[in-house]
Amino acid sequence: MIRIGLIGAGFIGRNHFNQYEKLGQRAKVVALCDKEPQRRAGDWSGVGGNIADAQGTKRDLGDTKQYAEWRDLLADPAVQMVDICVPTYLHPEISIAALDAGKHVLCEKPMALSVEECDKVLRAAVKAKGRFMIAQCIRFWPECVYLKQAIDDRRFGKLKALSLRRQASTPTYSLNNWILDPKLSGGAILDLHVHDTDWALHLLGTPQTITAQICEREGSPDRVHSLWYYRPDLVVQIEGFWDMPPAFGFNMGFTARFEKAAVMFELSSGKPLTVFKEDGSTETPAMGPNDGYYNEIDYFLGCIERGAGPTISTPGESREAVRMALLEKESAKSGQTVRV
Ligand SMILES: NC(=O)c1ccc[n+]([C@@H]2O[C@H](COP(=O)([O-])OP(=O)(O)OC[C@H]3O[C@@H](n4cnc5c(N)ncnc54)[C@H](O)[C@@H]3O)[C@@H](O)[C@H]2O)c1
Repeated sequence: MIRIGLIGAGFIGRNHFNQYEKLGQRAKVVALCDKEPQRRAGDWSGVGGNIADAQGTKRDLGDTKQYAEWRDLLADPAVQMVDICVPTYLHPEISIAALDAGKHVLCEKPMALSVEECDKVLRAAVKAKGRFMIAQCIRFWPECVYLKQAIDDRRFGKLKALSLRRQASTPTYSLNNWILDPKLSGGAILDLHVHDTDWALHLLGTPQTITAQICEREGSPDRVHSLWYYRPDLVVQIEGFWDMPPAFGFNMGFTARFEKAAVMFELSSGKPLTVFKEDGSTETPAMGPNDGYYNEIDYFLGCIERGAGPTISTPGESREAVRMALLEKESAKSGQTVRV
């Protein structure tokens, strides 16, 4: 049984708590930290987010210890693994302190707001005795895993074109709206779109060049459209924005055109991932039962149990996801294509 200390009981912290309950044979949240008394006591009635979470909003936390200060949680010897679900600007400081304290660490994406800060975290991870992973849930999302396998095993031939999209209404649910302050969240590019910079790296590796355009609102990037160049016979475009009107909600999707088929997934359509074949037929392959949040935590617990670092989502790759997003900003600012 791995004993968890969860820091941050907001939108994603509540989600992770629910995953640990499902994984109750292997993990237990023994300590919970949030600077808001109501939240650390398990009253999550004011917590919102961009993906519906059907689990209850008021929870009986039983014997889970409650902490107002994350440093006190780190000093608790009962905690073996720390799960960091606080606003992004706090990720590097808490990750480094938790690693230095000898804990295993799962930290929400993105790793940090700059490459320099990512490198500080990486240096702490290299000398740490605990395992470390950034929670890049998309790498573990069933439809995304399917696409990765289809690209790797070439079941539909070579990939010719790929479009990745992540689209949302302007977020209004984070505590005190920290998410809309680019100094705290990095704006849509480092909060939302970084999922896809990470995923594109996972699917295809490092591109040769990036060309991007970004729209800003009050100094915060809230829309990015990007072209990643790999080779002349592959087009990769990625779009991410949170400037949509309130009723839009959230969508993530992709279209992958292979030589012998196209694969499409659009979360908001409610339709399953569909393979469109050249003979006019379609297929809807069965997907695994759990979402990426469950799968990433299941995987990281497995890493700890096996005594091995993650290989699906390595800290170095999470650093690269941040670097690519920042290169997109550089391209948009200069109006030029940037070499990677
Ligand atoms: N993987 C995903 O799909 C996904 C989805 C949403 C958010 N996130 C990431 O998770 C992180 C948190 O986002 P959120 O939407 O849950 O935000 P949120 O505002 O809903 O929750 C953050 C919580 O952290 C607490 N907190 C803030 N500072 C603290 C401190 N110093 N000590 C203890 N608690 C503190 C707040 O009180 C709040 O309850 C962000 O980095 C975000 O990018 C990831």
